[in-house]
Amino acid sequence: MVGTGKGYGKTILFGEHFVVYGLEGIPCALAQVTIAQIKKVPGEGGYELIDNRPATPGYKEEKKGEYTALITRVIEYMQVKGKIQITLSGDLYAASGMGASASCAVAIARAINEEFKMKWNDEQINKAAFEGETAGSGTPSGIDNTVATYGGFLLFKKNLTGGENKAEVIKIKKPIEIVLANSGKTALTKEVVGDVKKLKESNPEKIAKIFSEYEKLEQEAIVALKKYDLEKLGKVMDKNHKLLQDITVSCKELDELVAIAKSAGAFGAKLTGTGRGGMMIALTPGKELQEKVASAISAKGYAVTKTQIG
Ligand code: MEV
Repeated sequence: MVGTGKGYGKTILFGEHFVVYGLEGIPCALAQVTIAQIKKVPGEGGYELIDNRPATPGYKEEKKGEYTALITRVIEYMQVKGKIQITLSGDLYAASGMGASASCAVAIARAINEEFKMKWNDEQINKAAFEGETAGSGTPSGIDNTVATYGGFLLFKKNLTGGENKAEVIKIKKPIEIVLANSGKTALTKEVVGDVKKLKESNPEKIAKIFSEYEKLEQEAIVALKKYDLEKLGKVMDKNHKLLQDITVSCKELDELVAIAKSAGAFGAKLTGTGRGGMMIALTPGKELQEKVASAISAKGYAVTKTQIG
């Protein structure tokens, strides 16, 4: 028999890095998913991996250590007996900033659950994926695995005292077109999150000020989303990108992508996910604007995904 499972990709509208410190964020699942298939193969334990996911060149090699730790931990946590073969596929592009590792952890946990008839619920799957993410990338907030498990548009807040995280569904009037652009660079989440931690320790006052500015922006974003005021939402995204630059998680390519998107008419644009590479998200309501922004970015040689949030 073959057990199958899927996990959603994600984009973060607001909150990357800030959520690690218990501030609220607004993540959103993508329609694109990772699919895992599991089958038992002869052997004492461990796994063999066939990775057929489409990916940014170099991503799989650079992230090899992270994925080995992630998969090993999910298998241990779910107490899999014997050796398994894992085949990964799906239409989610494996790139930094798409929640690729979390969607992979969720897909594998769901496939193991099916193959070994464990009857785990979503909460347990989410926990297994969080364990994998922790082994793979250090101190994750849980934002990626939560969206990868449940899907949808969420308000997320990490519970810093170890209790349950907040994950509340947000409903908006109608879906919004976005463009995701790939910087082509892969960043290690553990390293980037670690650098922000160092910055916070060496310059607590500066970071406290940035955190409080972020909190104001995030509140404005929620109001704008509820009123479906997309112009306002875009402006707040622009300001959020500036704060991400201030905590040193942007890079030349991401800043260039933001500039191209803005000059093509995007309502707002910012890096999304870990940063220092990975993805940029541009708010482009309506098919026409979405097409215009996507073409301007492709013309500069970057890969784009046109999709919707909400
Ligand atoms: C990565 O998608 C988001 C980060 O905030 C890390 C995390 O929350 O675990 C950079």
